[in-house]
Amino acid sequence: MARSSSSSSSFILILFMLFTPIFSLRECQQRRLEGGGKVALYIFGDSLFDSGNNNYIHTTPLDQANFWPYGETFFNFPTGRFSDGRLMSDFIAEYAKLPLIRPYLEPGIEQDYENGVNFASAGAGALVETFQGAVINLSTQLRNYKKVVRWLRGKLGDGEAETSLSRAVYLFSIGSNDYMSPFLTNSSILTSYSDSNYVAMVIGNLTMAIKEVYLRGGRKFGFLNLGPLGCLPGLRIIQQEANGSCLEEEASTLAMLHNEALSKLLSNLETQLKGLRFALYDFNTNLGQRMNHPSKYGFKEGKSACCGTGSFRGTFSCGGKRPVKEFELCESPNEYVFWDSFHLTEKFYKQMADQMWAGGPPAVKPYNLKSLFQCLD
Ligand SMILES: *[C@@H]1O[C@H](CO)[C@@H](O)[C@H](O)[C@H]1NC(C)=O
Ligand SMILES: *[C@@H]1O[C@H](CO)[C@@H](O)[C@H](O)[C@H]1NC(C)=O
Ligand SMILES: *[C@@H]1O[C@H](CO)[C@@H](O)[C@H](O)[C@H]1NC(C)=O
Ligand SMILES: *[C@@H]1O[C@H](CO)[C@@H](O)[C@H](O)[C@H]1NC(C)=O
Repeated sequence: MARSSSSSSSFILILFMLFTPIFSLRECQQRRLEGGGKVALYIFGDSLFDSGNNNYIHTTPLDQANFWPYGETFFNFPTGRFSDGRLMSDFIAEYAKLPLIRPYLEPGIEQDYENGVNFASAGAGALVETFQGAVINLSTQLRNYKKVVRWLRGKLGDGEAETSLSRAVYLFSIGSNDYMSPFLTNSSILTSYSDSNYVAMVIGNLTMAIKEVYLRGGRKFGFLNLGPLGCLPGLRIIQQEANGSCLEEEASTLAMLHNEALSKLLSNLETQLKGLRFALYDFNTNLGQRMNHPSKYGFKEGKSACCGTGSFRGTFSCGGKRPVKEFELCESPNEYVFWDSFHLTEKFYKQMADQMWAGGPPAVKPYNLKSLFQCLD
């Protein structure tokens, strides 16, 4: 009796070891989230994360979402987020027991700097050429970050600021616009570079950004790879007369090349930059699965957007403030993967956040965000 129970428990132990993800090899000294100092969240990138910075810049409604029906579900008013409700980064802040991270440009935000800051700007890419003049480009996002660092040093003193910056987590969503904007603006930039040189330029600029943050003490990073860009409703319709195919050859291929380069870059940086740790979320696979098998994940519609015009509601008209004024709006955003032609519903963002926060490989690796937030060193 005793014998059989001990052999079954060692069997369970072996099973447990087999299924314990590689986190066990990737341990850092951890503390419990409750108690101890605060771990701040700094957010960089594009419309996946922009919580309202573009409300404050001189741009066009193409890069803004501060009008109905954006925000119609959770907030009940348009905040500037490109969704019906919260974004992935909002859920991550919640899981980290932080308040919603405010946009850098929001007046009076200094008092909240110690929780982190959101620098993201809808439309931004890693390259300054991407939607130039209409967005806060990545290099300006970094300049704003450096201003916050100076402010923290002044407020907390160098030592405490350093501790705070090294415990903080830095989230990036960048790149999609670099690869989509040439198709959306008829820019000829892609014809001047080979695909691999263009990707190298995007990755090169992202690398500079990571190194800037690292230089100021940042050690813990979270990244999303890029979705199957050619299959977003807004690009699908570019395919001749919307026969429903993705713009595979072009945009999705660039995204795949980027994703390979990103994953290679991060492994290299992990060995080059002492103490750097990261969580890389496989947005590409997870969006693809939900587009192709929506019902498996609790959605009814995987390909068409909730809000927009025409086939797949792929014309970027949600809200009627952009060039096309008429638009359709679904009744239940919760049934949709896509909220508008390029962006996702709150329900989808929550699924992403849940996976990136507490999931394991292959969805997120080598760390998940929870373990990065709990990491002491
Ligand atoms: C980057 O963005 C800032 C702020 O929007 C802008 O002032 C600057 O001119 C941009 N840089 C380039 C090269 O476009
Ligand atoms: C891009 O060029 C095509 C063909 O010249 C034209 O029909 C289309 O309206 C242009 N699109 C934009 C966004 O300028
Ligand atoms: C960053 O992008 C610019 C174009 O905006 C490019 O000229 C430059 O070479 C890139 N930098 C790196 C390090 O790749
Ligand atoms: C859709 O149209 C594009 C461009 O005309 C073509 O290359 C592609 O094969 C078509 N796809 C289908 C499924 O018919």
